Amino acid sequence: MPKIILTGDRPTGRLHVGHYVGSLRRRVELQNSGEFDKIYIMIADAQALTDNFDNQEKVRQNIIEVALDYLSVGLDPEKITIFIQSQVPELTEMTFFYANLVTVSRLQRNPTVKNEIQMRNFEASIPVGFFTYPISQASDITAFKATHVPVGEDQEPMIEQAREIVRKFNATYNTDCLIEPAIVLPENDACRRLPGTDGKAKMSKSLGNCIYLADTPEDVKTKVMSMYTDPNHIKVSDPGQIEGNTVFTYLDAFVKPDSFSKYLPEYENLDALKDHYRRGGLGDVKVKRFLLAVLEDELAPIRARRKEWEKNIPGVYQILKEGSEVARAVAAQTMHEMKDAMKINYFDDYELIQAQAKKFGGEE
Ligand code: TRP
Repeated sequence: MPKIILTGDRPTGRLHVGHYVGSLRRRVELQNSGEFDKIYIMIADAQALTDNFDNQEKVRQNIIEVALDYLSVGLDPEKITIFIQSQVPELTEMTFFYANLVTVSRLQRNPTVKNEIQMRNFEASIPVGFFTYPISQASDITAFKATHVPVGEDQEPMIEQAREIVRKFNATYNTDCLIEPAIVLPENDACRRLPGTDGKAKMSKSLGNCIYLADTPEDVKTKVMSMYTDPNHIKVSDPGQIEGNTVFTYLDAFVKPDSFSKYLPEYENLDALKDHYRRGGLGDVKVKRFLLAVLEDELAPIRARRKEWEKNIPGVYQILKEGSEVARAVAAQTMHEMKDAMKINYFDDYELIQAQAKKFGGEE
C-alpha cells in the first residue's frame, strides 16, 4: 500500500513556533525522508470559514501568509502538493455522503469540538457547518487515501472519527476504497504543547505570547529575553525550578545534538544545564541567551527563504493553483470509486440501464 500523507492548517493567522515544533518541522523531515509516495498539505480555508464565516477577509489574507510559512520552513512544491481546500469541490461532495454515516450524538462527544464550542461561546446556537467539521475533515483525509496524518495532539479525536467513518463506509457499501489513516504525533511533550512566552498553556494571537516564524531577529530577542521562567529564581545563586519554566520547555523542543558544542561547550547536554539550574548558580539571562542562539539557528534560514518567496507572490499563488488542480484530480478519482460503491453511478452503469429497459418492457 502506498504511504501517503495529508495534513493542513486553518488560515486564520501566521504560523508560530508552536506550529513549527508541533508539526511543520516533522512534515519537512518526512518530505525529505523519501519514505512517502505522496504528500499533500492543505490550507483549510473552508474549515476556517466554519467559525469565521463572517470574517472572510481574514481567511483570504492569511492564505498567502500560511503558504509563505510552508515554503519558508522548507516544504518543497517540487516534492509535495500544496493546495487550497475550497478549490477541491469533491471534498464537499464527500462530506455530504459521510454525513449519513455519523450521528449527532457522536459529533457531540468529540472532545475537540466540545472544547471549541465552549471557547467560542457557541453553546446556545452552534452553526451546523462548524458542528460537522469533523466530517469534512474526514473527507480531506480520505479523498487522498492518506495513511499518515501528522498533526498536534488536539487533532486526535478528528483522526479517530475519520477512522470510524472509513470503517462504516467500507462496511456499508462493501468496498475497500477508503483507507484508515494513522496519526503521527510530535516527538516529545514540549513539542506537543509548546506554551506561550508568558508561560500560559496556549500560544494565541490575542494573548500576544507567540513567537512567529516571520518575526524579525529583534522581535525574537525581545520575546525570549522577557520569557517567563521560575518566579522564585531571583538571585543567580538561588536554586531554580525546571518544571513549568518556559525557557527550558523551549529548549526541550529546540535543542539539537550540536547546540551545546556550538554555543555552550561548558555543558555536555541539556540535562547538565538543567542540573546546574536546579542546584543554583546559573542565571536566567545566560539560559535565555543560549535559547536565543538555538532558536535563531532554526529561524534564520526560515526567514531568509521567506524573503525570497515574498519577492514572487504571483508565483506562490501559481503553486497553490497548480497544487489545487493536482489535488482535485486525485479527489475526483476517489469520489468516482465511492460513487461506484454507493451505486450512484447511473450513467456509467450499462447493465442498470438495460435492466430498467427490460423491466419497463422496452426494446433492448
Ligand atoms: N483541523 C486542522 C487545524 O485546525 C486543519 C485541518 C483541516 C486538517 N483538515 C485537516 C489537519 C485534515 C489534518 C488533516 O489545524
